Amino acid sequence: MTHATTARPLTPPVLRIEHYRDRVQLGIGEARPRLSWHLDSAPSDYRQDSYEIAWATTTLAGEIVEQSAAVIQSPAQLLVDWPGSSLAPRQRTEVRVRTRDAASQSWGEWSDMVAVERGLDASSWRASLVGPGYEEGDAQERRAPLLRHEFTLAGPIRAARLHLTAHGLVEAELNGVRVGRDELIPGWTPYNDRLRVYTYDVTEALRPGRNAIGAWLADGWFRGRFGFEGGTTDIYGTHVGFLAQLEVVLDSGDVVVVATDESWRSAPGPLTRASIYDGERLDLNLSPAGWSAPDFDESAWSAVTVLPLDPTTLAAPDGPPVRCIEELAPVTVTALDGGWLLDYGQNHSGRPRLRIPRTPGGAHITVQHAEVLEDGRLHTRALRDASATDEIITTGDSVEWEPRFTVHGYRYAFVTGWPGDEPPAAGEIVSRVLHSDMTRTGWFASDRDDLNRLHENVVWGLRSNFVDIPTDCPQRDERLGWTGDIQLFAPTASFLYDVHGVLSDWLRSLSIEQSRYNGTVPVYVPWVPGGAWWHPDLDVAGWGDAATIVPEALYTANADLGLLDRQYESARIWVDKVTELAGPSRLWDQQRQLGDWLDPAAPPDQPMLALTDPHLVSTAYFARSADALACAATALGRDEDAVKYRRLRDEIRAAFLRAYVGTGDATHDTVCAHALAIGFDLIADEAQRQRSGDRLDELVRARGYRVSTGFLGTPVVADALTRTGHLDSAYRMLLNHDAPSWMATIDLGATTVWERWDSMLPDGTVNPGDMTSFNHYALGSVADWIHRTIGGLAPAAPGYAEIRVAPRPGPGVSSASVSHLTPFGMAAVSWRVVDGEMTADFTVPVGARAVVDLPGRELYRVDHGAHTATVTV
Ligand code: BGC
Repeated sequence: MTHATTARPLTPPVLRIEHYRDRVQLGIGEARPRLSWHLDSAPSDYRQDSYEIAWATTTLAGEIVEQSAAVIQSPAQLLVDWPGSSLAPRQRTEVRVRTRDAASQSWGEWSDMVAVERGLDASSWRASLVGPGYEEGDAQERRAPLLRHEFTLAGPIRAARLHLTAHGLVEAELNGVRVGRDELIPGWTPYNDRLRVYTYDVTEALRPGRNAIGAWLADGWFRGRFGFEGGTTDIYGTHVGFLAQLEVVLDSGDVVVVATDESWRSAPGPLTRASIYDGERLDLNLSPAGWSAPDFDESAWSAVTVLPLDPTTLAAPDGPPVRCIEELAPVTVTALDGGWLLDYGQNHSGRPRLRIPRTPGGAHITVQHAEVLEDGRLHTRALRDASATDEIITTGDSVEWEPRFTVHGYRYAFVTGWPGDEPPAAGEIVSRVLHSDMTRTGWFASDRDDLNRLHENVVWGLRSNFVDIPTDCPQRDERLGWTGDIQLFAPTASFLYDVHGVLSDWLRSLSIEQSRYNGTVPVYVPWVPGGAWWHPDLDVAGWGDAATIVPEALYTANADLGLLDRQYESARIWVDKVTELAGPSRLWDQQRQLGDWLDPAAPPDQPMLALTDPHLVSTAYFARSADALACAATALGRDEDAVKYRRLRDEIRAAFLRAYVGTGDATHDTVCAHALAIGFDLIADEAQRQRSGDRLDELVRARGYRVSTGFLGTPVVADALTRTGHLDSAYRMLLNHDAPSWMATIDLGATTVWERWDSMLPDGTVNPGDMTSFNHYALGSVADWIHRTIGGLAPAAPGYAEIRVAPRPGPGVSSASVSHLTPFGMAAVSWRVVDGEMTADFTVPVGARAVVDLPGRELYRVDHGAHTATVTV
């Protein structure tokens, strides 16, 4: 074996405040924001022994509150404590950092400046929640309300901030211009417990003299129809409302506050439908020109209603807002049934943007959306009660339109009513891809197109289902925060994107919902009523375990002890709840369970009737959560709990072995059963584990390397095979094109991961069952194994302080590369096998170390830098 390291220059730190992505983050909730930085490169002997933080805190008016610097002797660089005075509401702080090398005792360059501004706290609010003051009519016919208000500013503006939120969804305008580019604000939380507030710098939008502010309001998740089997409306309330507080500092130093109150005006707007499931309908004949600009005649408008709101529910968002991330142009536009069929070539979450030419007499255009075609037409049955259709009625003038308060999951669109006989020209209709504006942090590629396509499908599945909260699917009358799905996808998700903010925010909702149901974690969060089977206090293995496993995945990805600590109680309450349900036997076998949901052997309409005993699965998850909790307790220094839950885990293991291993029971001798037993470390005895592994391999080979697991079995099969010396079988199963398999879906044109192995049947028809999505990320959780084993990059310590470089080439793949933007900076591994020699190039970020585990070689450790190693394989 040979090993070489390339020298690299010292680069300035890249500073981050908390998990915020933007260089200037407004409206944060933290009074003492933590700081992290990484160096893109440094000489191999560089060691940070101290850091210096310089900051300047000011008021909105720009007065200096504190300007200082602090030198701290420490090698730490992740989430270090804020050195200054706590930030008060509205205060802004600009921060830079530099580090000192231990050996040379020389200071490096300063980082770029990064700034945050604290938002308002409960006592800062003067505004009232206001809603339409006229009779709206019933849910089917009501139009989305508009609210407006005019005000005067006595002189030039120095700085201005608009703090806003809504019961419902809102889009604000100042002087006729839209504020910001965030979508679906304020997102979805259990609104009556926690309501996010968004803050915007609107200094440039205001002017001395007359100004006007306006707001579009829509039902959204607050009172729109949501949930499956017909769903429910008015889930959080019957009245939509807008809360806004505009704070303006004039050059004179005067502060002007414009807040929503009884003096605002309201009227029905031109949106005659604004539904997340069903899309939007805009009738421009009903649009009041200039309504959000000064000098608009509002005499025909109604007053507003002041609505109750508990200001202590107002909170800063943890995660990035939903934004348009990119635009997709149709790959093909074909004539169909008097209209136009658009194929965007990629299943995704988004909505159309239309540039409609002048159309004398007006146009009435409809855009319908679907994931797949059947017989050359949109297949919409699988959408169930979601019509996913947008409509616009123009006055005849040319107009550009993008719906505001909806989002669809689709690849195809069918357009009718487009003016003229020609198809829409390039750029006239595009799809705006929408999701939470997260930083991409992980990549994978190989020398196989099918494997690369699969990985791309996983990425798009994540992007499509991280629209404010993690959902099961983005297209049908569901789109719920299913706990089980994100539990098993969290490791993959936190590799591919910085999902910390989105999941941290969602975990707050999980704790809130859990607190309502006596420790139970509902199967989806936020909870909405729906369906006969589903009620909130159902304790479901694999779903409820999101309470322990999602925080664990985030901690593994970025070493944020703060989040682990914040969620610790929720995790403990869940494990204690299951302990109570299982009783002294330590077997969780009394409750109805979903088990290995969508095992391909289950009857199509009874996805929970898997081959594997559901109580084997639930007891395995009981042990998994007890273990995760014990690890969290250890990391948090809760030593007593660590001992207690480790002992509990051991007791469950022992009970599991007695009840489910080597029993001769066919429901205990399945791919899922063996994979969970090995994957969750339930068989301590090496020989016994190897026997289980060999049996697993036998079962996989007997199935011709086809997949034979559902939601809960699938994420652990490849690891269990790898761990017991059956790596080749894991590769063969992954790369198998015989259905059920990942590659069989790609052969049928999948561009995202399907909900079920047979969402589309081999003849190209859509599965006849009523639960068929083409965009669920659950079965994409195999990507975590792909990253760690094929790519060879894995965390060996929280936050990748130590990374494991362990590429494992296998049949069918001759080269691969993987990279991940860790909190310490970019880590990467790429390898190729030529003539029995594997050459691996890998980069270890500054401040991190690597344990290098190459096939057939002793482990060895290296420090940061660019390394190359060659071994015979
Ligand atoms: C959802 C899944 C969920 C499952 C659990 C389905 O309807 O789409 O994401 O995990 O139900 O039963």
